[in-house]
Amino acid sequence: MTDIEEKLLETARSVSGNAYAPYSQFKVGAALLSDDGRIYGGCNVECASYGGTICAERSALLQAVADGRRKFTKIAIFTETECSTPPCGLCLQLLHEFAPDIEVILATPQGVSGRFNLKELLPYPFGPEDLGKR
Ligand code: THU
Repeated sequence: MTDIEEKLLETARSVSGNAYAPYSQFKVGAALLSDDGRIYGGCNVECASYGGTICAERSALLQAVADGRRKFTKIAIFTETECSTPPCGLCLQLLHEFAPDIEVILATPQGVSGRFNLKELLPYPFGPEDLGKR
């Protein structure tokens, strides 16, 4: 594992502690690496009207985009579980929007439990190209 991957995992683990998950009790942390080497953390934020909930992955992505980043190479996702959990479909779609080739690193307290290319997790995405935009 590279130094930057260690930092990503540490960020994902630490930001999961800030997750606001009073309904599911399922805390998730994500750390996104931009192509210029910056790391953006995000956690899930739940809402009493459940549909308003934002996942950790999209939370990280939105912060990065708001900070002017548009290209990303890796995302680490941490959950305090035995088995790792992949990003949900909505998160996969938004990741595809900005980083169709991103590496997705899944981690638990036991360490890295999976590495995927986004294309493996979302092999047939709907994307900008379907609207003639890429
Ligand atoms: N969750 C994430 O943060 N990321 C995912 O990709 C899957 C689900 C959150 C949303 C909700 O707060 C909790 O996990 C249970 O679904």
